[in-house]
Amino acid sequence: MVGLTHLLAKAWLLPLVYGASQSVIYSTSAARPQFTIPASAETGAQLIANIDDPQAVNAQSVCPGYKASNVQRSSRGFTADLNLAGEPCNAYGTDVDSLTLTVEYQDSDRLNIQILPTYIDASNASWYLLSESIVPRPQASLNASVSQSDFQVSWSNEPSFNFKVIRKATGDVLFDTEGSVLVYEDQFIEFVTALPEEYNLYGLGEHITQLRLLRDATLTMWASDDGTPIDGNIYGQHPFYLDTRYFKANEKNGTYTPVKSSEANASQEYVSYSHGVFLRNSHGLEVLLRSQNLTWRTLGGGIDLTFYSGPTQADVTKQYQLSTVGLPTMQAYHTLGFHQCRWGYTNWSELADVVSTFEKFEIPLEYIWSDIDYMLEYRNFENDPNRFSYSEGEEFLSQLHDSGRHYVPIVDAAIYIPDPNNASDAYETYSRGAAEDIFLKNPDGSLYIGAVWPGYTVFPDWHHPKAVDYWTNELVIWSKKVAFDGIWCDMNEVSSFCIGSCGSGNLSLNPVSGTTLPGAPGNIIFDYPEAFNITNATEAASASAGAASQAAATATTTSTSVSYLSRTEPTPGVRNVEYPPYVINNVQDGHDLSAHAVTPNATHADGVQEYDVHSLFGHQELNATYQALLEVWSGQRRPFIIGRSTFAGSGKWAGHWGGDNYSKWWSMYFSISQALSFSLFGIPMFGSDSCGFTGNTDEELCNRWMQLSAFFPFYRNHNELSTIPQEPYRWASVIDATKSAMKIRYAILPYFYTLFDLAHTTGSIVLRALAWEFPNDPTLAAIDTQFLVGPSIMVIPVLEPLVDTVKGVFPGVGHGEVWYDWYTQTAVDAKPGVNTTISAPLGHIPVYVRGGSILPMQEPALTTRDARKTPWALLAALGSNETAAGQVYIDDGQSIYPSATLHVDFTASRSRVQASARGTWKERNPLANVTVLGVDAQPSAVTLNGQEVSSESVSYNSTSQVLFVGGLQNLTRGGAWAENWVLEW
Ligand code: GLC
Repeated sequence: MVGLTHLLAKAWLLPLVYGASQSVIYSTSAARPQFTIPASAETGAQLIANIDDPQAVNAQSVCPGYKASNVQRSSRGFTADLNLAGEPCNAYGTDVDSLTLTVEYQDSDRLNIQILPTYIDASNASWYLLSESIVPRPQASLNASVSQSDFQVSWSNEPSFNFKVIRKATGDVLFDTEGSVLVYEDQFIEFVTALPEEYNLYGLGEHITQLRLLRDATLTMWASDDGTPIDGNIYGQHPFYLDTRYFKANEKNGTYTPVKSSEANASQEYVSYSHGVFLRNSHGLEVLLRSQNLTWRTLGGGIDLTFYSGPTQADVTKQYQLSTVGLPTMQAYHTLGFHQCRWGYTNWSELADVVSTFEKFEIPLEYIWSDIDYMLEYRNFENDPNRFSYSEGEEFLSQLHDSGRHYVPIVDAAIYIPDPNNASDAYETYSRGAAEDIFLKNPDGSLYIGAVWPGYTVFPDWHHPKAVDYWTNELVIWSKKVAFDGIWCDMNEVSSFCIGSCGSGNLSLNPVSGTTLPGAPGNIIFDYPEAFNITNATEAASASAGAASQAAATATTTSTSVSYLSRTEPTPGVRNVEYPPYVINNVQDGHDLSAHAVTPNATHADGVQEYDVHSLFGHQELNATYQALLEVWSGQRRPFIIGRSTFAGSGKWAGHWGGDNYSKWWSMYFSISQALSFSLFGIPMFGSDSCGFTGNTDEELCNRWMQLSAFFPFYRNHNELSTIPQEPYRWASVIDATKSAMKIRYAILPYFYTLFDLAHTTGSIVLRALAWEFPNDPTLAAIDTQFLVGPSIMVIPVLEPLVDTVKGVFPGVGHGEVWYDWYTQTAVDAKPGVNTTISAPLGHIPVYVRGGSILPMQEPALTTRDARKTPWALLAALGSNETAAGQVYIDDGQSIYPSATLHVDFTASRSRVQASARGTWKERNPLANVTVLGVDAQPSAVTLNGQEVSSESVSYNSTSQVLFVGGLQNLTRGGAWAENWVLEW
């Protein structure tokens, strides 16, 4: 290694001594002004990320790799010893001499390869292997065997140990470490796989990036609270990717020729094979995507790789969820309604006003949310008695509930720690946790003190055996004062505004202000969407003048030169968890792992350091919250949880929102890829803050965004403190646009709900990329400007300002696929592979129904409760073969184990639509009408189960080829699906 001299960090760069007072200046007079923890408290070390460091050693060129020996075969695979093949390189840690390789063919479609240190140090001091109690390992099925596997694994010791994973069906090498060395150190693991030219990879979250991952990106994973920077590591960690490969199949000799998507043609026939790869590892991670290879780097843990053979995306996702991370939690029906939130709803009456304004404008509203504004000095589980009193809340919530609506408050991860010298500052939530000693510690056993909104805080330690009970108890107590209907888990990366422990020396200052809030002097938000200077020139000019003068006023006069803390030399046998020798490209200031987060040396009850499990904090909090809500509602209601930080498997308990996005057009565009990636991760309940969170929105952006989000599973408008209000009723055009998109959403709620049932029971996904739904068309591989809801609805949103058209492709049209315009109900005339220009004036979102589908619908209403009381309708869109099919799932919408359920299957052919139901749920609402698209001839008579439908209720349009059969209520009085029926014409 070159030039690894240790610079002495400046005093302010050093982590704080536990329990020591922080060197900050403040006033301590009796009536002291509230002290704000200065931004400098979280100024970390400035480190050079390895990927940017020209002097950083390349482990591939200096490390010896391993040699395999002692191979032991079994019917399910083999094990081998891997011994270091030369002198240790100790590139970024201490090389582990002896490893054990375990290759297990776990099922025909699943293969697991583990490489772990042979001698596991029980104290975990050298490395931490992810606990199965937190993230279970996939298990081999009883009949798994080498011979029945879709995979074949080969290995070689030349020049050092390397292995290949091959798909037997095609001979394609899916994973191939040949030509690279395996590096396995206590703080650094690296392995490299070759990839085909122009590979198509998806996943590896959480990142704000294109759907198909770039081929020159470095994707870092380390849960981070830093807004939504493009390509940076953000809230969640999902070390999973989907790899799709396209081929031209040669029928004569049974061979497959790889096809690059850039050279494909939408009119031709191709085949694709997809597989998935999951690295079960909770450490700081980096995935280097390069032109023909992928490098995994981790800061510790084990290699625990699972391969899923697909061969379609749908298969891969199901295999991943069913075997490994678990199926997503079932959402209550009403969670699919619209949610309104903002940071800055300051009291109950403001919430009441918002609800009544929605009513006034007849805009559906299902949930109203509270941000941290409701809290007493930002303390969890404690309402501000003046603005959000429990008594007033009881009245408000009872009226809200009576109106069929719901309420979700935020809960932050950090717990306020009161001033120990001030008895009147006592905070029971803290005292109860302290009594059980369930908060995170420093390495010396003292309390780890962080800083978040309320000032100095502590954090629940999810490794403590009583932490879940503690959390449950707090939620149960609070639920008796506030009848909430779900919980919003925020700041759980876990975020903290000090570098290292803030120390206990300042606790007597509490309550202090954790940070300068948006809107406070010096932090006025002047930002607007991209084209604001064109659409609102005068306002834009004054905003930019304001921004400039604020910048000038807050600019520091002394120029500070940044000094970099040089790389840490690895010390044999000693882990440096705060400044590991390998510097991941953490998006936070200086790449410091401690920046804006609980520091890696914080210590859990079982001795595990935060370094090893940092990205699991949110995952475990979501689990705790899920368990708590089961208790709160005595197991009678499905817990509704939306969380910010997630890990592989969090979908079992919670949904996710896209975090602090921006009121920018680019941010709206990326919300699609983020949503689709979360489909792959098994977290279908995803949505982004519509109209944008950070910065001020404007009418045009909000108009388009309210329409786009209407097709995301989780549909919420949320906004940063102090920015302009952005409820959909703030602009006339947004009211209309929102209502028009909601009209569709609410009509197809039964379809959405059915998709959720399928996701929950089978692992299929809700939002779908075109490439996944049309796996044989390589030209769709990178499309992330349009998407599908389930298999049947395609949305082509406008994602840029100042336009009234949008371009979109109509997949499959070269191979008989038909798409019907939602609004005109007529088939679209589109050519394969052609980016068709579609009219999309402001307020119009192009939506298409796929031929071959039957959509179950009810009438839109202001709440889902009322929508569920309306008659049913079916929309049958015939495919080119004049058939269609669909289904609906119905239950009470909220029980975890519903006592009655109903599945109805629909089929249609040239002259009939049929419904057949199974189950015990008694659906009382009648069927009002059936619309059939693509009927090429005027029917003479229409009958339902042989009974003629009055001709006055039937209409046929020979131009649009739409057959509408109304007046069916009378014939289905006992309920739309009470008996099986056939509609014939
Ligand atoms: C975080 C959340 C944001 C919330 C804010 C205040 O930034 O991501 O949604 O409004 O905290 O609680």
